[in-house]
Amino acid sequence: MRMNSLYAMNAGEGPQSYFLNSSYQGGVIDVAKPIIEEEINTKLDIKNLPNRFCIADFGCSTGHNSFPAIQIITQAINQKYKSPKITSGTLEFSVFFNDAITNDFGTLFRSLPPNIRYHAKAVPGDFHGRLLQEYSLHFAYSSWSLHWLSTVPEAVADSSSPAWNKGEILYTRDRKLVCDAYLDQYEKDIGSFLESRAVEIVSGGLMTLLVPAVPDFWNPEREYTVTSDISYLLGSCLVDMAKKGRFNEAKVDSFNLPYYFPTPEQLKAILSKNQSFTTERFEIINDPGKHTLASVNARAAFFRAIHERLLSNHFGSDIMDELFELYMKKLEASPVFKNPDNDKTIVILAVLKRKLI
Ligand SMILES: C[S@@+](CC[C@H](N)C(=O)[O-])C[C@H]1O[C@@H](n2cnc3c(N)ncnc32)[C@H](O)[C@@H]1O
Repeated sequence: MRMNSLYAMNAGEGPQSYFLNSSYQGGVIDVAKPIIEEEINTKLDIKNLPNRFCIADFGCSTGHNSFPAIQIITQAINQKYKSPKITSGTLEFSVFFNDAITNDFGTLFRSLPPNIRYHAKAVPGDFHGRLLQEYSLHFAYSSWSLHWLSTVPEAVADSSSPAWNKGEILYTRDRKLVCDAYLDQYEKDIGSFLESRAVEIVSGGLMTLLVPAVPDFWNPEREYTVTSDISYLLGSCLVDMAKKGRFNEAKVDSFNLPYYFPTPEQLKAILSKNQSFTTERFEIINDPGKHTLASVNARAAFFRAIHERLLSNHFGSDIMDELFELYMKKLEASPVFKNPDNDKTIVILAVLKRKLI
């Protein structure tokens, strides 16, 4: 099974679903709205307006956060091109919803808002490779998805490597070699994503990326980030459960989460190496969605909706309730992690433009 087929978020619309537990990620949309509108108005540069304008969302999950973003994008394009094609209704929008093949596209299509004015299509597959026809895409969007790596870096899973990440489930700042291995994989993956999109996006087309990130400095005594919450709290729950004999300790050693949150400088450097796109905008957003996770239950449900498939595949589904109950207890007992005001995770909004081909 391909690694990314385990990445899909929890399906359906039930209490553990991503659909109901993704307000954190959805918080960025309102902040990004005026920036997306302005960039479409001033930078989108499609020479001959086509009859069919194509938009794609890479890593859309079950759509709940995708639909408002698509609405903003289509409205801004309509506004920009007050062309006869639009007023006469001959400009049609096609929206390609991409995610891993195991994503719950059924929930996405069942919950499409009524009266949408676009053709909705599913594009299952790995966004690190080609998914759409050559030079067919006018606007690409991706939010809270590009941090997912195509694979766990080999060295961190190799017990003979100096970068072996024994006893941890994600990189931590005190393990430099592990961090370097993750950053290296991240750079390769962003590179493959951009190379694939460079073949799909037309000259002058735009891409808006909302990428979770961490500041250059945050104080672990008083602050945390999503990644430190996962490595310190969720990771220590798994270690405790192994010590209690729920599973072998080697199971924890052999488990590493496949994602990376860069610093703004790291992402800027990676984007600037790309030859096909210019970076038109690079903004740091303080995601207001974090304040929707004020209760320990909400935070546990948020993490469970994201990680359950990967965790169950490795540790077994029968330990999930116990794991997240333990996580809630640890969260309740840690004043620093409990308070969403201490969450220093940021989101980078980058708008890239396809250079002339
Ligand atoms: C946290 S969700 C974000 C969903 C949505 N964009 C939002 O803002 O709420 C990340 C999504 O990226 C998808 N994903 C991760 N790696 C992928 C890949 N290589 N190809 C396609 N989708 C991927 C996951 O399956 C998941 O649905």
